[in-house]
This record gives sequence, C-alpha cells and structure tokens, in this order.
Amino acid sequence: MFRLIREARSDHLCSVNTSTHHDTEPVMSNVLLIHSSVFGENSQSLGLARDFLKRYPHRSVVERALTPETMPHLDGATFAAMGTPANEHTSSQRAAAALSDELIAEIEAADTIVLAVPMYNFSIPSTLKAWIDHVARRGRTFRYSENGPEGLLKGKKVFVLAARGGVYSKGAPAAAFDFQEPYLRAALGFLGLTDVTFIHLEGLAMGPEAANTNRGKALAEIGRLTGDVVATAAA
Ligand SMILES: Cc1cc2nc3c(=O)[nH]c(=O)nc-3n(C[C@H](O)[C@H](O)[C@H](O)COP(=O)(O)O)c2cc1C
Repeated sequence: MFRLIREARSDHLCSVNTSTHHDTEPVMSNVLLIHSSVFGENSQSLGLARDFLKRYPHRSVVERALTPETMPHLDGATFAAMGTPANEHTSSQRAAAALSDELIAEIEAADTIVLAVPMYNFSIPSTLKAWIDHVARRGRTFRYSENGPEGLLKGKKVFVLAARGGVYSKGAPAAAFDFQEPYLRAALGFLGLTDVTFIHLEGLAMGPEAANTNRGKALAEIGRLTGDVVATAAA
C-alpha cells in the first residue's frame, strides 16, 4: 500500500498500478467513464479524463461514449415505460425502458463516475443531457417524499473533466455564462450524486500559449487531487 501511495504522490506523471488487485491496495474503484464530445478520441475533455484515470486508483473502467446514434433523445413512449413498474411492462415497454435500465445499472455498479464534458453553447452537449433524461427516473434514482425530492444514487464520487474554449472561472468577465458546472451540479445532486469535483481545462480557444498553460494547470490539479485520494484512503 505504501509503495502505491508514494508512487501516486511523488510522481504524478507516473501512472499508479491500476490493472491488478491486491488486498492491501487502497480504494480501488470501479469507474464509469462517460464522454460526450463530437470530436471522439481527439476530444480535449476525454484526453484529460484519460490523464486523470492514469493517476486515479481503479480496478475497472466501463466506458460509455455518448453520440447521437448511441444516446437518443427521450420520447414519450420511453418516458411512460420508465415510469411503469417493470412487472407491469408490456414487451414494447420493456424494450423502450431497456436503455434507461442499462444506463442506471452502469451507475449503480460504479463507485466513481468520471464525466468528460465539453462546454457547447455555454452548457453541456445535448447527448449528455439526453443521458441525464434517461437516468433521472422516479423510484429508481430519485423519489419524492414529504420532505421534497431525495436522490437515491448515494455514496459515489464524481469527477468532471470540463473543457471550454473560453474562461469562466470565478472573477472572469464571462463567469456568469457558465451553465455547464451549475447545471451539472444541480442535475447530479438531484440524483444523490453530491460528491462532485470539477477539474477545468479552460481557454482552449485563446491561443496555443494559453491552452498549454491551462492544460498544465489542469494536470497539476489532477496530480494534487489524486494524491489526496490515495492519502485519504491510507488514513
Ligand atoms: C458546438 C460547439 C460549441 C461550443 N461552444 C462553446 C461555448 O459556448 N463556450 C466556450 O468557451 N467554448 C465553446 N466551444 C469550444 C469547446 O468548449 C472547446 O473546443 C472544448 O475543447 C471542447 O471540448 P472537447 O474537445 O472535449 O469536445 C464550443 C465548441 C463546439 C464544437
């Protein structure tokens, strides 16, 4: 365990051993990686998520690429099927709810969720919004009680690798136009996912120098965070 901690803390550019499991290893998460860029493997947010995973102790990664082909918009039939108890489903309702079932099962099986999220038009990609529409399911991922809504996906860590062309961090002139982080915090929190850490990769459209500097900052933040994760697990 000590060797693993030292590796992760002393050289952040060296990946920790994530492929094998030993009883002494700290918090080896099952990770769900979700990415949603139109640029596929050339995506900045996905590249940063892969950098994050090189340093984050994990046992397994289930990866889901959200594209218009794999992640359709919600429609009325699907929404109705999602709200109908499974034991009352017709065969067409069972088929309509199948994707929602699968996406929720992926979240339930994960200890850590890693979201690679580009900013598109001040918010998130529509495919990621469609994913949220499919996993926000009354009675499964949230419920209403006399105290109001309660999220049911508890006890999981979420890391969001958020890429943007501009700069929206606190104090920046465009900070009020950031609907990416506040929206995701609200939507994930509604489902019970409240342990959410953002790592921003900003200013990517502001020239190569700014982009490189900000990439360095994001990698340094990953190094700091992953060092903390391993240290906490050892405590
Ligand atoms: C359709 C589209 C819309 C975009 N809208 C914004 C925006 O509103 N604000 C911004 O700062 N950057 C915007 N960008 C720039 C992206 O955030 C930037 O290219 C980022 O690297 C995208 O992450 P990705 O490479 O993971 O897709 C936009 C890019 C695209 C393709």
